[in-house]
Amino acid sequence: MMLEGKIALVTGAGRGIGRAIALTLAGYGADVAVNYSGSREKAEQTVQEIRALGRRAAAVQADVSRQEDCERMFREVAEQLGVIDILVNNAGITRDNLAVRMSEQEFEQVIDTNLKGAFFCMKLAGKQMMKKRSGRIISISSISGVRGNAGQINYCAAKAGIIGMTKCLAKELSSRGITVNAVAPGYIDTEMTAVLPEKVKEAVLAQVPLGRIGRPEDIAEAVAFLASDRAAYITGQTLQVDGGMGI
Ligand SMILES: NC(=O)c1ccc[n+]([C@@H]2O[C@H](COP(=O)([O-])OP(=O)(O)OC[C@H]3O[C@@H](n4cnc5c(N)ncnc54)[C@H](OP(=O)(O)O)[C@@H]3O)[C@@H](O)[C@H]2O)c1
Repeated sequence: MMLEGKIALVTGAGRGIGRAIALTLAGYGADVAVNYSGSREKAEQTVQEIRALGRRAAAVQADVSRQEDCERMFREVAEQLGVIDILVNNAGITRDNLAVRMSEQEFEQVIDTNLKGAFFCMKLAGKQMMKKRSGRIISISSISGVRGNAGQINYCAAKAGIIGMTKCLAKELSSRGITVNAVAPGYIDTEMTAVLPEKVKEAVLAQVPLGRIGRPEDIAEAVAFLASDRAAYITGQTLQVDGGMGI
């Protein structure tokens, strides 16, 4: 039980990768706050599954792109579960389009949720963790942020930004015993990728040396490791969990 006694907040944890992270952290002994934006029922379901594992859990609504929502979320989590030890910035969206066709709104929506949302939560978690002089901040970047991807100039900017913020914050918080890392998934089977045309899926699969699409649990295990004491000497890093796609 490498996370026994820890309290975690996972953003966007009602479904997809976030849900797998929440359940995996709970499986390793953590109590977990399950953030959602619109998927209330799915978040409640995740909470029930965490409680069935014998851990405490709470569903907390917040649109992470809104600073006031994030502030309320951190207050509610502290009241319901306690001050967090682990923050996982997972919430994310796509609004794909070629750069020459992309609207300002499409660009802003992705930056606001994927980058600014992570910044707001990093700031709030950083304040709380500095007082405790310990903590783990883990953000979900993407292979698109490392290598670039046609049709995703907004998403690539946000996910590369996550890597930059991770390095910055790692330096700012290291003297307080807080580590800050990112996980960059390759192609993972969730609702986000389910909408892609079959041809695109086949083309992506052909680029994966391990020969299979990733599962949300593949990402969750990497996050759990970085959240644990076993990763105490790792900070400012981006761990690619992509079946070798990024080699
Ligand atoms: N799937 C992949 O291949 C892949 C690859 C690389 C990186 N990623 C990243 O991994 C993370 C999870 O992706 P996924 O595949 O699990 O996507 P998903 O199935 O579409 O789930 C997205 C999650 O983000 C939440 N979310 C979206 N906007 C939000 C907001 N404004 N405030 C709070 N929560 C919000 C959603 O919650 P609600 O339903 O409540 O809105 C949902 O739980 C994202 O950051 C994504 O960019 C995914």
